[in-house]
Amino acid sequence: MSRTRPFEIRAEKLLASLSDSGQYKVLQMIQGPMGPVVRLRQENGTSKDVLCFCSNNYLGLANEPRVVEAGIEGLRTYGAGTASVRFICGTFEPHERLERTIAEYMGTESSYTFVSCWTATEALFPTVCEPGDIIISDELNHACIIDAIRLTPVIKKGVKKSVYKHSDMASLRAALEAAASDDEITGQIWVVTDGVFSMEGDIAKLPEIRQLCDEFNAMLVVDDSHGHGVMGRTGRGTHEHFGMIGRNDYGNVDCFTGTLGKALGGGAGGFVAGSSTLTDLLVQRARPTLFSNALPVTVACSADRAIQIVMDEPERVTRLKNNVEIAREKIAQAGFEVIDSPTAICPIIIGETAEAIRMSKRLLELGVFVIGFGYPVVPEGTARLRIQMSAAHTDAHIEQLVDALRKL
Ligand SMILES: Cc1ncc(COP(=O)(O)O)c(C=O)c1O
Repeated sequence: MSRTRPFEIRAEKLLASLSDSGQYKVLQMIQGPMGPVVRLRQENGTSKDVLCFCSNNYLGLANEPRVVEAGIEGLRTYGAGTASVRFICGTFEPHERLERTIAEYMGTESSYTFVSCWTATEALFPTVCEPGDIIISDELNHACIIDAIRLTPVIKKGVKKSVYKHSDMASLRAALEAAASDDEITGQIWVVTDGVFSMEGDIAKLPEIRQLCDEFNAMLVVDDSHGHGVMGRTGRGTHEHFGMIGRNDYGNVDCFTGTLGKALGGGAGGFVAGSSTLTDLLVQRARPTLFSNALPVTVACSADRAIQIVMDEPERVTRLKNNVEIAREKIAQAGFEVIDSPTAICPIIIGETAEAIRMSKRLLELGVFVIGFGYPVVPEGTARLRIQMSAAHTDAHIEQLVDALRKL
C-alpha cells in the first residue's frame, strides 16, 4: 500500500534517517525479573544472561520477595483495579496506606500518588499555579518538569516561566530579581529543580537554592526521583544528603515530587509530598486526579512494602554508597572520565549519539548491559554511556563491568 498522507511520509522519513545514522533505538526484551543479572532475548531467539548496569533498581527491590509478595497479595485481595478515577470510587485502602507511608518516609504532613511521576508533575504545576505566578526552573530539569511548565500557562493563562543556567546560583538570583521587579508577577514565585540530575548524575545545590527562595519568598519544589532511596544516610533524598532534615517540618523543601518506579519498588507510580493543604488541592483540582485512574493496587501494595523496607533496612543505602564509590574509582582507573558525584548515576561522555550506541552494543556483546543516550534525551554532541549502580551489584559484577570497559 502506498503511503501518501503527510504524517506517514514524514514519520517514515524520520525513522529511516535514525536508522541510517545509527541512532535507531532497539528495545531489548527481558525474559525474567530485573536484577543485577538479567536474561535478554537474542536476535536468534535464544537467551543470554548479562550484567545490568542501566536500571534504576538502585536498592535491588524490584524483585525483592517481600515486595513481590505484597503485590500478589494486593491483586488477590482487591483484583486488578477500581475501574474508576479516584474521586468517584477509585481509591482503595492500600492507596491511603501508601500515601501515609510516603509522608512518613519523606517527613511531610501528607502525600498523594499518581500513575507516574510524570503525571504527578503535570498535575502539580497547573493546579498550584495561578495567573500572576512564575515558575523558575533549572535548564537541565527532567523532561516531565519542562513539559509541565509548558502546559501550565495553557491551562492557567498568565503563569510565567523562566529558566536558569544549570546549578548556577547567580543565574537563579538574576531570574528571581527579574521576577521580583516584574509588575505582572503578583502571586507566588516557584523554584523547581531535580535533586539528582538524571543525565549528569550531579546534585542540586539545595542549601543555596533554599536560601535564595527564602530571600524572595519563593516556594521550592524538588523532583528527587533519582535521590529517593539513594541520597543521605537513610536514603530520604538530596535534602538529607545536605543535612537539611530537621531544619523545618519538610527538610526545608516545600514540595517533593518523586517516582515509585526506581529505588522505591521499581514498578511504577509517582507522588507529590508536602503540606496537607497542597495535597488537598491536588485531590480537589488536579486534572489527572479528576480524569484519570489511580495507581494500580498491586503497585500501591508493592511500593508500600518497598518503602517500609527502605526505612527498616538503611544498610541497603550504605551498600549502594559503597558500590558507587568503588565503581567510580575503578571506572576512572580504567581511563574513563566520570563526573565526580555521590549519586548512583555515572555518565561517561562520548560525544556523538551513533558512537555511544555503538559502544553500548559492544558492551552488550561483552555481557554488560549499559545504554548509550543521545539526542533528544541529551543535547546533540553530548551523547553518553550512563552506568547506574545498585546495592544488588557485587564486587565481582563491578570487576566485570570495568573489564568490559577496558576492552572498549
Ligand atoms: C528526575 C525524573 N523525574 C521524573 C521521572 C519520571 O518518572 P516516572 O517514570 O514515574 O514518570 C524520571 C524518570 O526518568 C526522572 O528521571
